[in-house]
Amino acid sequence: MIERSFLMIKPDGVVRGLCGEVISRLEKKGLKIVAMKMIQVTREIAEKQYEIHREKEFFKSLINYVTSAPSLVMVIDGKEAVKVIRNLIGATNPVEANSGTIRGDFAMFIERNIVHAADSPENAIKELSLYFSEEEILSYKKVDEDWLYSE
Ligand code: CMP
Repeated sequence: MIERSFLMIKPDGVVRGLCGEVISRLEKKGLKIVAMKMIQVTREIAEKQYEIHREKEFFKSLINYVTSAPSLVMVIDGKEAVKVIRNLIGATNPVEANSGTIRGDFAMFIERNIVHAADSPENAIKELSLYFSEEEILSYKKVDEDWLYSE
């Protein structure tokens, strides 16, 4: 079943010029980007997105980080997209992330871990709704779709 996820290239990824690298990995894997935009995340939206971390000691620093420069937010479709994307980005802490993953290859520190991705289909819907309206999420067929999946 095709699943929908949310991925965000956070300010360190944008400012360090890693957007192309991240997008390239998503595309090469076979995922389909169905919406994407660069935005300066406001404190209000950041606090909603990271609501579950509100009581954590790193919350304030996390909000400062994600609002410090533009982010690239996207909606991505694919078979088991949530899990596939979590595997592509690697562990939250780049020190623990395997080589070959985005965080494993390009980051050094948990508070500057380049990307965020939804951890469940339910959270994906909640998170993408903070950034996109229904009309902004597009529908199209990729040329490799019939070869990526057998059914
Ligand atoms: P992300 O996947 O965006 O989800 C929550 C973010 O909080 C995480 O990536 C890190 O940027 C940050 N984070 C998670 N755990 C810690 C921690 N222990 N210390 C500091 N920042 C953290």
